[in-house]
Amino acid sequence: MLFRLFGTLLRVSMKPQVVFVLGGPGAGKGTQCTKIVETYGYTHLSAGDLLRAERCREGSADGQLIDSYIKEGKIVPVEITINLLRKAMEETMQADEGKCRFLIDGFPRNQDNLQGWAAVMDGKADVRFVLFFNCSNQVCVERCLERGKSSGRTDDNRESLEKRIQTYLQSTTPIIQLYEQQGKLRTVDASRSVEEVFADVKNLLDRES
Ligand code: ADP
Ligand code: C5P
Ligand code: MG
Repeated sequence: MLFRLFGTLLRVSMKPQVVFVLGGPGAGKGTQCTKIVETYGYTHLSAGDLLRAERCREGSADGQLIDSYIKEGKIVPVEITINLLRKAMEETMQADEGKCRFLIDGFPRNQDNLQGWAAVMDGKADVRFVLFFNCSNQVCVERCLERGKSSGRTDDNRESLEKRIQTYLQSTTPIIQLYEQQGKLRTVDASRSVEEVFADVKNLLDRES
């Protein structure tokens, strides 16, 4: 009886604690997540990075689809993305039981992402809040074009970026508004220097934890 109670308590305390990280393409989500990981006990999972890795994985059934969606700046069907996220979270927690705090970067990006999360993760993870890096489209595009000089990414070019910005405005902005209405949005002005942005992020995370 006592053992079972202890087991239940342990499982409850081990429920993944999630912070979603949103913002336009190039707003600095990845840069800030890397800095957060250095200072706080979070694991950073970028949906885009996971999709790019899956695209290259030998034997992947979804490689071609992911490739074309990324170039077109479209959002990949959530069945693919949620499986990658779920697997990455499980592997992290299996390797180290104490690692239950996650920054999930670039997700949920549309209604389909949101529904997929609800279907697979509701009750299995707590979404604490959403960290939103607010940055003008113009600055976002400039940063991506600069990154494109060395990133090797197929979507850091003007043609793909126009489509990515359209997708962001049409599909992601309503998700951000939804979280704002729920009182879950924590907005940071991401147009400033990396260190200035991080100073705000630190203040915010210190208040939340
Ligand atoms: P995201 O993950 O949101 O697409 P990244 O973190 O990859 O954005 O940043 C996009 C590009 O902009 C990278 O080349 C990065 O070095 C640069 N960058 C990130 N944050 C800033 C900032 N605050 N000021 C200037 N450049 C930045
Ligand atoms: O976040 P990042 O800029 O790395 O995303 C690159 C691309 O990966 C997106 O433009 C989109 O094609 C794909 N992606 C997706 N679904 C997500 C996150 C990224 O389809 N939730
Ligand atoms: Mg990124």
